[in-house]
Amino acid sequence: MIKMRLVKLLNHTKKYIGYQVLWQWFSLLCQVVMIYSMTHLIEEAFYRNLTRGMVLRGGFILLIAVVARFVCDRMAAYASYKASVDVKRIFREKIYQKLLNLGAAYRERVSTSEVVQMSAEGVEQLEIYFGKYLSQLFYSLLAPVTLFIILFPVNWKASLVLLVCVPLIPISIVAVQKFAKKLLNKYWGIYTELGDSFLENLQGLTTLKIYEADEQKAEEMDAESQRFRRITMKVLTMQLNSTSVMDIIAYGGAALGMIVTLREFFYGNVTLSGALMILFLASEFFIPLRLLGSFFHIAMNGMAASDKIFALLDLPEQENKGRTICPEHTEINFSKVCFSYEENREILKDISMEFKPGSFTSLVGTSGSGKSTIAGILMGRNAGYRGKVCIGGVEVADISEKSRMEHMTLISHNSYLFKGTVEDNLKMGNPEATEEEMRRALSKVNLLDFLDSNQGIRTPVLERGSNFSGGQCQRLALARALLHDTPVYIFDEATSNIDMESEELIMGVIHQLAKKKTVILISHRLANVVDSDCIYMLRNGEIVESGTHEALMDNGHFYKELYRYQSHLETYGRVVAE
Ligand SMILES: Nc1ncnc2c1ncn2[C@@H]1O[C@H](COP(=O)(O)OP(=O)(O)O)[C@@H](O)[C@H]1O
Ligand SMILES: [Mg+2]
Repeated sequence: MIKMRLVKLLNHTKKYIGYQVLWQWFSLLCQVVMIYSMTHLIEEAFYRNLTRGMVLRGGFILLIAVVARFVCDRMAAYASYKASVDVKRIFREKIYQKLLNLGAAYRERVSTSEVVQMSAEGVEQLEIYFGKYLSQLFYSLLAPVTLFIILFPVNWKASLVLLVCVPLIPISIVAVQKFAKKLLNKYWGIYTELGDSFLENLQGLTTLKIYEADEQKAEEMDAESQRFRRITMKVLTMQLNSTSVMDIIAYGGAALGMIVTLREFFYGNVTLSGALMILFLASEFFIPLRLLGSFFHIAMNGMAASDKIFALLDLPEQENKGRTICPEHTEINFSKVCFSYEENREILKDISMEFKPGSFTSLVGTSGSGKSTIAGILMGRNAGYRGKVCIGGVEVADISEKSRMEHMTLISHNSYLFKGTVEDNLKMGNPEATEEEMRRALSKVNLLDFLDSNQGIRTPVLERGSNFSGGQCQRLALARALLHDTPVYIFDEATSNIDMESEELIMGVIHQLAKKKTVILISHRLANVVDSDCIYMLRNGEIVESGTHEALMDNGHFYKELYRYQSHLETYGRVVAE
């Protein structure tokens, strides 16, 4: 019923939970005083003559008790607020920090939509757990015992009956707890799955439209939504049934207590004021526990969410020693590196490579041979490789993300452009870049004239750069990368899917860049790699050949074959075009 790990995490809220219980308890005492003075007035009016003094005194006490009760309730509400105020902040900060610690590799461990759902809805449910449920748990134990002690001298039989019925409510809670837990875990599973497919389908909507697959996906999502609806209804039914049972116990128990009281009254075992007091207070035995029952279901939901949140917080982090790369030592070495995304399917097999500072090295090979995986290892996205990967003599896994990002720039085939202006996007590469520097970078990628015919660097960019052509997007991304000015650049198919002119231009810039920087070029098109200092040819995750273009054409086999094949295709294409 209490999750220690959750409570520990918010240790400092403990005292507010204590205050809340205390204020609620004071409020109960005020209520007892109120009812006591009222029932006495009634008794006096019934059996004796009510004097003015009595009414005034009784009324005065009643008034004080009402005001005091109001104050106590306010204070309890304030303590509840204080107990829950940090919950969202602390949990969201923890989740955010965890994602930062997981670094670029986080998406391999947990899906984005799941994180969003946990930190939004999940954390929201936990607020009730801290702000309401925990204090109610203690108060609902304290209240019946207090009432029992007060009412025992009035009539022991009736108060005992009331006290005995009280534990039936927690027993019914425990009875559904196990079942509820299973159901809620399932509920959260289905909820996050639905979120996953929703996000994916939304992101891929254009593709779905093109292939007219949107209807099928819509049907699939319909089915998933139906599943979610069914599980939600199940959860609600379970909650409703269990609250009905609690209601029956609460009202039944109170009614039983009242019957016993009336019986005692008729037999003359209790005074009129005593009987009235028990009648008025009978429901108070049960109300706190009944309320606990309602909070319990929300708290259970919060606890199920917390299981998911803790699973995220417990994901193993790579021990990051936070080392930095010295800008003068930028040689990169792969030594007997193996890597797999999933068990039993090795993607990289015993890779050894060397990238000297200021060299121009290319990785080639057919699609799926493991080229992007290598880039992912260098960028820290593919953690858990075996073997050694060193940059400037420092193991990649030990390098802090900040240092890695200051040292290397990756330009992939789908570089992301953000909504805003050209300037906003360029400043991501270098926040301090002057207008002059930005214009120079744009001129290098031959975008300046085009942009100047618009609004220069203040030309708006729509989401994902949708108001630019593919080639223009890629050239803008390249300009941003140039402004980033790092010692190492990795181009992963940076020129695939774009027009010939843009490709030529980008390749020209890359060749210029290679004169000063370490450049790693990943390309499936061999015509682009001819000038490299060294070419590594990959095949099924192994390096099958390496050397310069000339050496590979002389002695190589796979490279030569692929090169001939591609140049045949390209000259064929040209002949046909002419
Ligand atoms: N995130 C991933 N999870 C599982 N397998 C992957 C993942 N990314 C790539 N792979 C697999 O790894 C192999 C190499 O992929 P990749 O390095 O992207 O090849 P390429 O040489 O075309 O860049 C492929 O067979 C691919 O299916
Ligand atoms: Mg690739």
